[in-house]
Amino acid sequence: MAAEPIPLDDRTWLLVLTGAGVSAESGVPTFRGVDGLWRTHPVERVASPEGFAADPALVWEFYSERRALAGTVAPNPGHRALVRAEERLGERFLLVTQNVDGLHRRAGSSRLVELHGNLFTSRCSRCAREPFPDSTAYPSGTVPVCDACGARLRPHIVWFGEMLDERNLGAIDAFLEAGRQGRLLFLAAGTSGAVYPAAGLVDVARRAGADTWLVNADVADNAQHFDHVLRGKSGELLPALLG
Ligand code: OAD
Repeated sequence: MAAEPIPLDDRTWLLVLTGAGVSAESGVPTFRGVDGLWRTHPVERVASPEGFAADPALVWEFYSERRALAGTVAPNPGHRALVRAEERLGERFLLVTQNVDGLHRRAGSSRLVELHGNLFTSRCSRCAREPFPDSTAYPSGTVPVCDACGARLRPHIVWFGEMLDERNLGAIDAFLEAGRQGRLLFLAAGTSGAVYPAAGLVDVARRAGADTWLVNADVADNAQHFDHVLRGKSGELLPALLG
């Protein structure tokens, strides 16, 4: 689908929200849809505190497989288009991602909020030790433990039923507040609009005065909340829209 570029000028403040669809063309599976991860790995078993309490080895097996896969894939043109937008807009750009695969950072994005955590970071499930880098794909059946207190380690990922980090929400609010002085744009890409609070960001941005854009392969659940909806692949549409 042909798409006209979104004009980015020196008054533009661009807030971007990405989801699993942006990494799909890199070979990372999405969560929902026909081949989605949640079809074969029930959310409540591998992505909830209750699932972790019931079977931590299964949870670690799931995330270890994700780590092993994410280590073999590379950023795609969609990720790179967002890096170029950041280079152009500087502090007037913020990328909020629901993806935990680290591909935005590997592509070169740095004004980045990882809303749902990071696959390559672990933390203790009990003590106050800081989250730390951990790219180990643990062998099946292994549950790693904390060097400091001996409790189980867990992936540094926001699971269902858990709160988002207040500092991340604060960074988004501060960006939207600052963007009111200019021309505020909100662009969501590759996300089903099914998981809140992220799916509600379009409404928050609208209330702050943003013109809102959606790029998605299918009709997202919250598509009617956007001013402009483009259907297609983010690896093609983001370069077309952002240059
Ligand atoms: P989903 O799997 O729910 O949705 C991915 C969306 O991307 C779908 O609407 C697809 O149509 C679309 N899509 C697929 N390929 C695409 C492509 N090449 N270009 C553009 N769009 C494409 O993933 P998310 O919306 O990211 O949370 O899911 C949100 C959260 O739910 C995830 O962060 C995850 C999940 O449960 C946690 O694990 C905490």
